[in-house]
Formats: sequence, structure tokens, C-alpha cells
Amino acid sequence: QRVAVLLGGPSAEREVSLSSGRECVKALRAAGFETIEIDAGADLVERLLDAKPDCVFNALHGRWGEDGCVQGILEWLRIPYTHSGVLASALAMDKARTKQIYANIGLPVVQSVIASKADVMARHVLPAPYVVKPNNEGSSVGVYLVMEGANDPPQLSDEMPDQVMVETYVPGRELTCSVLGDRALCVTELITSGWYDYAAKYQVGGSRHICPAELPDEITEACLDYALRAHDALGCRGLSRTDFRWDDTRGLAGLVLLETNTQPGMTPTSLSPEHAATCGMDFPALCAWLVEDASC
Ligand code: DAL
Ligand code: MG
Repeated sequence: QRVAVLLGGPSAEREVSLSSGRECVKALRAAGFETIEIDAGADLVERLLDAKPDCVFNALHGRWGEDGCVQGILEWLRIPYTHSGVLASALAMDKARTKQIYANIGLPVVQSVIASKADVMARHVLPAPYVVKPNNEGSSVGVYLVMEGANDPPQLSDEMPDQVMVETYVPGRELTCSVLGDRALCVTELITSGWYDYAAKYQVGGSRHICPAELPDEITEACLDYALRAHDALGCRGLSRTDFRWDDTRGLAGLVLLETNTQPGMTPTSLSPEHAATCGMDFPALCAWLVEDASC
């Protein structure tokens, strides 16, 4: 089978996707596939029509690659592709709508509002501590943490969109869980010196991954259950990864879902490949599984 790996693209997570994509190319070759690398630019449709792949492996992250846009192009061209389809991708990329879906099926979320950038810079929209983030980006790009006792509201960069999410900060621990097909794989705890920002995510040694996380059984079971229910409720396909915060002073009541990533990172420091490995599936086998699961 000839597999076209889409990587790069124009989003704020371009560099992350280049890294994910290169790892996936190596893994697919190791699994015996013929691969073509396509940096997803303005000529994407022509490149796909020229390459005539049997399948597209989507290694894009962020806007256009993770939000249903590229998925729509692949549906239109009738090329089977990995990971989630148009609707699930679009929903999961929108953090506010994702939370509405979580809440609809009884999954716990923390209070948040969508506010204009001007408003957020003029006053504390929620009582501090809170987090300000783009509603539709990944990898902690453009995330601001406003600590308790902060006098001034945050001054957001020009790159931030006009509407942002303001979310109550949950103290405590950072957990994440991948789902592959109909199975929640494993829970990781991320240990960082500051918070789990872009550098902590992608610098080697930027964070420590405890996989499987050392948690009370009740919390592990809840993460596995919630991640699978989130994957299903959003209509995800193939691989997803749901991120949590857990305030461990509050037991199960302190566990909340933050978001579901439909194009989880596949970089050397990423979490889903570790989750699969913990379940006995090496990286080439994970990538091959995704190709077998592809459809349009
Ligand atoms: N947005 C990055 C790639 C992740 O969730 O892993
Ligand atoms: Mg994300």
C-alpha cells in the first residue's frame, strides 16, 4: 500500500506536526508501507491527485489539519484517511463545544466562558486563578495562566484570536489518556517543574511521564472510562487523547476533562505512542493499525 503522510501545514503547531510526521514515516516504512511525504500547503489537492495514494496518514495538528478542513478535502477526493472524520474533528477542535458535549453525557468539566480579547485584557472575567487560551489551538500555544492575587488582567499577544476561552484553573495534577478504536489504553501523569507548556511538551526532559500513572484505582478507572466516553460522544475514529486535571485533595470530584485531541502528537516526547507501547503495541504497529482503520 502507498501511504501519503500529511505533515507540517500552516498551523501554529507546524513544527510539532513535522516532528510527528517524520516519526510516522519511519514507523510506516518499518511496517512495510511505501510512503510519500506531503507538506500540506496550498497545492495539497494537486499533490494528492498526482500521488494517488491508497491512503492518507494524517499527521497534521491544529487548525486546518485537525479541525475538519483537511478531512473534508479527503472526503471530497474519496481518499481513505486515518484518525477522525470531519464532524468529530471540527467539534473536538472547538474547546467550548467539546465541553458542551462532555456535559451532555455527564462528564465533569470546569467552569469556562468565551470572551472577547478586549474584555479579557480589560478585567478579570473569572475570579483568579484562571487560564486564558485560544478556543481552537493545541500544544499550549497562546495559553496564559493568571494566578490568584494577580492585580492586572493578562495582556494577550496580537496573535491571539478575537474570542478566547477563559477557564477556572484547576490546581493539582495533569493526566492524559489515549483511546484506540474501542479501547482506552493507559493513563499518564505529567510531572513538570512549571506548568505543562510547549517547552515542557517537546523538549527532551521537559517533563517526566509516569506511565501508567500511579493513582488510586478509582481515578485510573474514571480516566479510562471518561476518555472512552468522550471519544465516542464526539464521534472520534482511530486514535484520540483526552487531557484531564485532577485536584487530588477532592478525590473523584476533583477530576475534570479539559479536551480531546483527535490528532494526538506522535513526536518522540508524545504520549499516545507511549500509551500504545505500554499496551504491547510498538510504534510501527500503532501506525499500521491506523492505516488499516482508515476510511472516508
Ligand atoms: N496538540 C498536540 C499535538 C497534542 O495534543 O499532542
Ligand atoms: Mg490539544
